[in-house]
Amino acid sequence: MPRFQKLHTGKVLSNRELAEDHYRMSIALPAAFREAAPGQFVLVRAKDRAFPFLGRPLGVYAQEKGKSENRIEILYRVTGRGTGVFALLKKGDLVEILGPLGQGFSLVRGRDRIVLIAGGIGIAPLTPLVRSLCKKLPSAVTLDLYYGARRADLLVGLGAVRKSCSTVRIATDDGSRGFKGPVTELVARDLMQYPPERTVIYACGPHAMLKKMSELLVRHPIPCQVSVEERMACGVGACLGCVIETKDAGKPYNRVCREGPVFDLSEIAWR
Ligand code: FES
Repeated sequence: MPRFQKLHTGKVLSNRELAEDHYRMSIALPAAFREAAPGQFVLVRAKDRAFPFLGRPLGVYAQEKGKSENRIEILYRVTGRGTGVFALLKKGDLVEILGPLGQGFSLVRGRDRIVLIAGGIGIAPLTPLVRSLCKKLPSAVTLDLYYGARRADLLVGLGAVRKSCSTVRIATDDGSRGFKGPVTELVARDLMQYPPERTVIYACGPHAMLKKMSELLVRHPIPCQVSVEERMACGVGACLGCVIETKDAGKPYNRVCREGPVFDLSEIAWR
């Protein structure tokens, strides 16, 4: 990543509510905006508004490179006043975009079983990963998706990935679709069918889901990359406002915005 990131001004093309508190925003950006790797994020701020002063980190959900402009889409959930401001943005409004930032997912070659585990809005960074894997990997590689949400109507973005996956397993907290319970329970039931030497897991979701995954994989050590959701301030590694604890005594903290947001699951000290 370049040391200094350029701040781009983007124009909102659309901002649609997909489900309660879940939105998809399309933004036109100058051609100078670099292509984001799957799992990278941007810091987004509504331009000319006093609040929120700091940008919010949001994963790049889709992108399209044009001659004179680039378009990106972000899939986000309103979790507080800051993201609440985004929900009010309309076509033509301006946003400030810093990025793409951070380290995205890495392609692990030589594995023919790929397992994707999404919890809620965690589907957002996994979607460009699915597109990239489908382009780069041989067709013999299977993609299995496990997707959990609180309710059936909150399974946003499922249509964009389901056709690319060999199997899709759904879990909802209220049982309104698929398995009733946490998605990690579904994963735990199936885990033994995935040989560790042939499989790689990519996951994104709430802290509790990732912590549970780290427990499950102790006895069945499949390599697993996770995208971590964390509050951020500067977004470029300067303020240390986003650190998470690691298991490495020589480097006990990692910055989610700089060394992450994607980490090897086994590196993180899950508390
Ligand atoms: Fe400032 Fe990560 S947000 S170091």
